Amino acid sequence: MQRNKIKPDTKIPRHIAIIMDGNGRWAKKRFMPRSFGHQKGMERMIGLMERAFRLGVSYVTVYALSTENLKRPQEELEGLYNLIRKHFKENMQRVLRYGVRLKVIGAVELLPDDVQAILRQAEAETAHFEGKGVNIALCYGARAEIVRAVNCAVEKGEKVTEESFSALLYTQGQPDPDLIIRTGKEIRLSNFLLWQSAYAELYFTDKMFPEFSDRDLEKSIVWFSGRTRRFGKTDEQL
Ligand code: IPE
Ligand code: IPE
Ligand code: MG
Repeated sequence: MQRNKIKPDTKIPRHIAIIMDGNGRWAKKRFMPRSFGHQKGMERMIGLMERAFRLGVSYVTVYALSTENLKRPQEELEGLYNLIRKHFKENMQRVLRYGVRLKVIGAVELLPDDVQAILRQAEAETAHFEGKGVNIALCYGARAEIVRAVNCAVEKGEKVTEESFSALLYTQGQPDPDLIIRTGKEIRLSNFLLWQSAYAELYFTDKMFPEFSDRDLEKSIVWFSGRTRRFGKTDEQL
């Protein structure tokens, strides 16, 4: 299967965003608890980030927990927080050695205090890195992000432009995602990066997140590389 191999002329997206869906179903199929799926998902998330940076991607955003996911049973949420408590630091170190700035995007204040502290510390330790970044979307909702930005603009009493509005979003200063990948068979965005995704290429796969391999990531990049991004223009104008 050499067909999808990354060739030197493959266009590498600057920013890849991933909706990491399907952890629960993947575990259920194996008669395992959902928490097992989340654990495998976290391991896969780290592996994919490493692969992406090795391939020359500059920004990776991962959707780990949505605002709406906060309505899930407390037990499942506690399981996710425990994953951060126990494994976040050692796992992220594998990624951060690529000289990457970590940002947690979303309503972080809704997380337990000790979890917030772990995340804030990792952010502070990497705040000096420029040009490469990882965004972890936690308690994130795109509508909430937009409303927050609107309120910010209203408080300043200034009219906004597309540029000044973008600067009020969590992703301020970063390129918009070029490629958005969603695993887990669903064809929807589930309140993810609604503003930033205006011209993203959307890649949907039936694979559940824990089984989305490095090869699958490469396949999605090869697919991306074959797209013609017109941004409204005609083919002749490109
Ligand atoms: C995505 O996997 C991870 C989170 C939302 C935390 P799910 O937990 O949604 O897995 P499925 O969709 O139930 O299989
Ligand atoms: C989207 O997955 C959110 C994350 C992957 C964190 P969901 O499982 O919450 O999406 P829906 O509810 O099926 O749309
Ligand atoms: Mg899901």
